Amino acid sequence: MPLTHTRELFAKALKGKYALGAFNVNNMELLQAIVEACEEEKAPVILQISKGARQYANPVYLKKLIEAAISVTNIPIAVHLDHGDSYELCKQCIDEGFTSVMIDGSHLPFAKNAELCKKVVDYAHKHDCVVEGELGQLVGAQHDDGEEGGGYSKGGVYTHPDEAVQFVKQTGVDSLAVAIGNSHGAYKFKGEQHLDIERLKAIKKALVDAGLGDYPLVLHGASSVPKDIVREINQYGGQLGEGTAGVPEADIEIARRTGCTKVNIDTDLRLAMTAAIRKVFAEGPKEFDPRKYLGPARTKVKELVRHKVRNVLCCAGHAFD
Ligand code: G3H
Ligand code: 13P
Ligand code: ZN
Repeated sequence: MPLTHTRELFAKALKGKYALGAFNVNNMELLQAIVEACEEEKAPVILQISKGARQYANPVYLKKLIEAAISVTNIPIAVHLDHGDSYELCKQCIDEGFTSVMIDGSHLPFAKNAELCKKVVDYAHKHDCVVEGELGQLVGAQHDDGEEGGGYSKGGVYTHPDEAVQFVKQTGVDSLAVAIGNSHGAYKFKGEQHLDIERLKAIKKALVDAGLGDYPLVLHGASSVPKDIVREINQYGGQLGEGTAGVPEADIEIARRTGCTKVNIDTDLRLAMTAAIRKVFAEGPKEFDPRKYLGPARTKVKELVRHKVRNVLCCAGHAFD
């Protein structure tokens, strides 16, 4: 089955009031886990690839792995560039055959963000590719001390409904990532914080009122950072902070019903993989066959993805709508 276009997937998801899982792929085991879970649950899926994933795995390897995945399943699969940080990177991915790219100009002033986004949209639309933009800055502390990376806002600026309308109209962008209290990584919230659902509703309403219809919104930073998995990591020698929390799954469900059509999940996959590997190493310190720890890691990620698509995103059973 060829790659599916997110345009089609979004239209069906909006109609069916479910969300599409956009899961980050960095290696073969993650890819197999995601695709196998979605196949068994009959869920359409978006595989997303970051700049870091391309650097880690090599774009050609990722492309060939995804081609392999597509050839062994018949569920709809879309491939998306996650957090493209330049026109050049987006263009490169479009030229390689991606059907969806994100240009993340959220750190730029509005006018510059819109200008960059429009430039990507103009190129993408000529090549049958769709574009996700981002407006507002996510809160939180991904890449805080001790984590690799850097560059994400710690303060956070929520997306303004009127600016969202202006941005979509000015750029022609196909979907918009919003900042409503969401953040990346394993350390999102302290205590009982929640997404700002009222802000999300206001953004959605402003887009409808402006004649932009049931416009697809995207929720980044949608990992829930499951406490049991964090505890398991720590039980087997990890040292993750246990006082912080992810986005409650109940919030994701409300966001889904309020029009977040694409929900990005990476951290929860990383946590599941880490917990399984740590368990094998702790229980069998003599183990050195990678299949003996990557196998259980793949199984744990698969069960996590199954849970997400079935119970949180509710896209299970919608592969052949
Ligand atoms: O939001 C970012 C994703 O989790 C990808 O992270 O840039 O470390 O691959 P990465
Ligand atoms: P998490 O860090 O919450 O998994 O978010 C992933 C993401 O937004 C990828 O773009
Ligand atoms: Zn993100």
